[in-house]
Amino acid sequence: MSRPCLTQRRLVITTALALAASSAWADDAYPDGAAGFAANCAVCHGPAATGIPALAPPLTRNPARYAGDPQGRRQLAMTVLYGLWGEIMVDGKKYDFRMTDFTRLDDATLAAILNHVVFDVDKAPAGVKPLTAADIAAERAHPIDGTGVREHRKSLPAALTD
Ligand code: HEC
Repeated sequence: MSRPCLTQRRLVITTALALAASSAWADDAYPDGAAGFAANCAVCHGPAATGIPALAPPLTRNPARYAGDPQGRRQLAMTVLYGLWGEIMVDGKKYDFRMTDFTRLDDATLAAILNHVVFDVDKAPAGVKPLTAADIAAERAHPIDGTGVREHRKSLPAALTD
């Protein structure tokens, strides 16, 4: 008697979880990137990439701006590969923590995660080209650390980081 009942309950729970997951990402052009973001980035940047005060900045504006500029595209790739250490200002607020590196994730996975942020979260304009695995590979070929990533960020045009 109890067995079918338990199975039924499991089915209901499994279906509910599947529905919750699919509806959260239903409108995403980069569902794999959304899953990668949830697994690797949401712990610090929040599930909707809106940031966590005094811990990690929102990713709701800068990534789309970076993606439209050659040096900004390099900045995105090097940030996910090597992390970002030390003080930065985002939307007028100070952050000074240590983003971890993600060299353990492959190029296609990192490109998909960035495209989810740039296009699904930030709604970058149509002219902006998606990041590719080759963009990530180009930065992987030149290892630096999170301090170097912050130095490169300082060299970006002011309009990208104001
Ligand atoms: C351990 C927490 C942590 C995790 C995990 C993390 N980040 Fe970060 N991220 C930060 C912090 C903190 C900063 C700001 C740097 C600082 O305060 O030193 C940052 C900065 C950034 C920036 C730069 C924003 C700008 O305005 O220049 C991007 C882009 C970014 N993160 C994307 C990601 C993505 C994508 C992932 C997942 C692959 C990720 N982060 C995972 C903590 C984290």
